[in-house]
Amino acid sequence: MNAPVAKPETAIAVIDPKSYAAWDPLLDLFDEIRAETPVLRIESPTDDHAPFWLITRHEDVMRISKDNATFLNSPRPSVLTNRAGEDLARQITGGSPNLVQSLVSLDAPKHPKLRRLTQEWFMPKNLKLIEADIKELAKRTVDRLIAAGPEADFVPLVSAPYPLHVVMQILGVPEEDEPRMLFLTQQMFGGQDEDLNKTGMANLSPEQISQIVLGAVKDFTEYFEKLAEERRQNPGKDVATILANGTIDGQPLDPLDLAGYYIIVAAAGHDTTSASTAGAMLALAKDPEQFAKVKADRSLVAGIVEEAIRWTTPVQHFMRMANEDVEIAGVQIAKGDWLMLNYVAANHDPAQFDEPRKFEAARDQNRHIAFGAGAHQCLGLHLARLEMRILFEEILDRLDSVELAGEPKRANSTFVGGLKTLPIRFRAS
Ligand code: HEM
Repeated sequence: MNAPVAKPETAIAVIDPKSYAAWDPLLDLFDEIRAETPVLRIESPTDDHAPFWLITRHEDVMRISKDNATFLNSPRPSVLTNRAGEDLARQITGGSPNLVQSLVSLDAPKHPKLRRLTQEWFMPKNLKLIEADIKELAKRTVDRLIAAGPEADFVPLVSAPYPLHVVMQILGVPEEDEPRMLFLTQQMFGGQDEDLNKTGMANLSPEQISQIVLGAVKDFTEYFEKLAEERRQNPGKDVATILANGTIDGQPLDPLDLAGYYIIVAAAGHDTTSASTAGAMLALAKDPEQFAKVKADRSLVAGIVEEAIRWTTPVQHFMRMANEDVEIAGVQIAKGDWLMLNYVAANHDPAQFDEPRKFEAARDQNRHIAFGAGAHQCLGLHLARLEMRILFEEILDRLDSVELAGEPKRANSTFVGGLKTLPIRFRAS
């Protein structure tokens, strides 16, 4: 088959962070692409991004995710990055296209060794030990919401701060340092949305940005080196303690690996769960009957949580590089080519989900791919589900009804997306 190449306007739509804020037109576009050219070459008309293959079918995203020998994360950026950003990362790191050396930018043999260190900690059995702490955070969060009522924006009050507190707690970052951590993460990943990017980096030159990013990497590394030292002296039960005392091939983690690990958990663990939490609340606020039903029958909460994760698909893509010539859906991919696993498109594939745009809490076989699959499958997936379940149980205990009080707005972002405002009106019990 001849390589299908996207029309320039299609290429722009796939790359543009604003398309992901608009959402429905993007889902329409993915439906068209998936039906006609499920593996489609995207060439940026301005050449500011290197070309890549857009993968839109659920079965193809699944297959590529699970084949970690053929499709690698480390040689090319693991998240869509423009050429200038990639050059900047290579310049800062001395060759790597990924600014932070962490689980998502590594391959075997180092990746499984690092991952093994915390894998057990993130399993449901261990998470039971922190359930009471999470419940306490959920309670405080809902206290704040109720105090601000009967009308409030759910995002800044609940869905943004709650997962951030949880993840900071497991990393051992005291509450007074949270704003600093948030600011550093924003500096490193330079938000694509003007409302969310509070770092003022929008109009800076590449040299200025590289200075800021370098400063943030240094700050993070120093901060977590100190924290690790403290945990070596006073071990606790948190992830911080495991990493501080962990070894690979008999050696402690070097400061860059340590910082990379803390950064990936901090960064991967908050915006993502924020987005699915806001998505679940949107679904409930739009459907008062569903709210009443799940309030009366808590066995439905797990289905609401899982469907919210599919329906919102907070992580919208990850990238891979083909490590050999390979065929996907009849299209020949060359060794070295870059591929976009588009989880939004895959989670709206009608071959896998009936009426994919519908929020259907009782879906059986909800085989969504919002957490990825294979060796890199989300390390925090049990934690994300647990946090959401605990929060919604608290909300259902303490609110009698919820409805929309204005137009929700999505953030401009190609990578982690979701609502940036969700005005609700509610009645506390
Ligand atoms: C990796 C999604 C919450 C930590 C990933 C990946 C996805 C994802 C798609 C990449 C999978 C792949 O390449 O196959 C999500 C979603 C979340 C969520 C949708 C919330 C609804 C969390 C939380 C944490 C976390 C709460 C930790 C506190 C990680 C880490 C990785 C990862 C460390 C890298 C794993 C690796 O490369 O081995 N996540 N995530 N995530 N996630 Fe999550």
